Parts: sequence; C-alpha cells; structure tokens
Amino acid sequence: MAKRGISILKDIEASTVIDLLNRAYCDEWLAYYQYFIEAKVIKGLMKDAVIAELTLHAADELRHATLISTRIIQLGGTPILHPGDWLKHSNCGYDAPENPDVRSILDQAIKGEQCAITTYSNILDIIRTKDIVTYDLVSQILADEVEHEEDLQSLFDDLKEFMEQFKL
Ligand SMILES: [Fe+2]
Ligand SMILES: [Fe+2]
Repeated sequence: MAKRGISILKDIEASTVIDLLNRAYCDEWLAYYQYFIEAKVIKGLMKDAVIAELTLHAADELRHATLISTRIIQLGGTPILHPGDWLKHSNCGYDAPENPDVRSILDQAIKGEQCAITTYSNILDIIRTKDIVTYDLVSQILADEVEHEEDLQSLFDDLKEFMEQFKL
C-alpha cells in the first residue's frame, strides 16, 4: 500500500472506494462468465456475428476485472477472494441464458450493459472530485460499457429488421 498515492484522496475514505470497486469487480466477473457461456449456448439467426461480439465483450469484462483489482490493491484493499461472494456483492447480478435464442440472449446482454452503465455512472458521481485516479479508470470502463450496449443494440436491430423483411 503506497501512502502518498492514498493521501491524495479528498473527503473520501479509501475503504469507501474499495467497497464500490469490489462490487464492480463482482459485476465484471459475472458479466465475463455470462458472455462466455452465452457464446457457447446461443442458437438462431446471425449466431456467428453475435458469438464474435459476445466473445469480444467477455475479453473486455475480464480486462475490466483486472484493472479494478489492481486499483483495489493500490488503495490497500483486497479484491473479493471467493467466487461464492460475487452474486452477494454484485450490483447487476447474473442472468443465466436459459433461453438460448439469439434474441433472448441479446436482450439479456443489453440489460446487463445498461445496468453496468448505471453502476459506473453512479460511482463517478460519488468519486468525481475525490479520487481522480479511480475516476479516470472508471471513466475508461464506462466508455467501454457504452460501446458494448451500442454494439449489442445494433445487432439486435439488424436481426429484427432481417426477420421483419423475410417475415420470420
Ligand atoms: Fe465491464
Ligand atoms: Fe460490458
């Protein structure tokens, strides 16, 4: 734990930031697994294009978990150690892809990204002027989540248009 780096926090305890980050850390692992397993079980039209997107997103969520864990440690905290705690501490939970249809999976994934956007936006509101390093990190992650929602929504819209055109 580096003292000077922590001393630049203003009007916020490191433990508060660690708690916010640990919740987001759980979300990222759950999002990673959700994308991973969705890419395996998905069925239906345009499935290959969607699998490519889900796989890219899975890699991004795992990268986010890495970035967040590094910041938790910098702040003197410990990332959640037990996978059994991920659901308990997450903001967005986990939506098992019980219906493998491509539309259902895209719909679930879009909702997950929307929850991530709300979560990171709330974190930024709390730490905006208080922890500039975490603020910068979370801003980068938020930009990725906004891009994820957009990519999924455009796939969903393309699929809908295709199905309407061919009356499927
Ligand atoms: Fe993420
Ligand atoms: Fe995402």
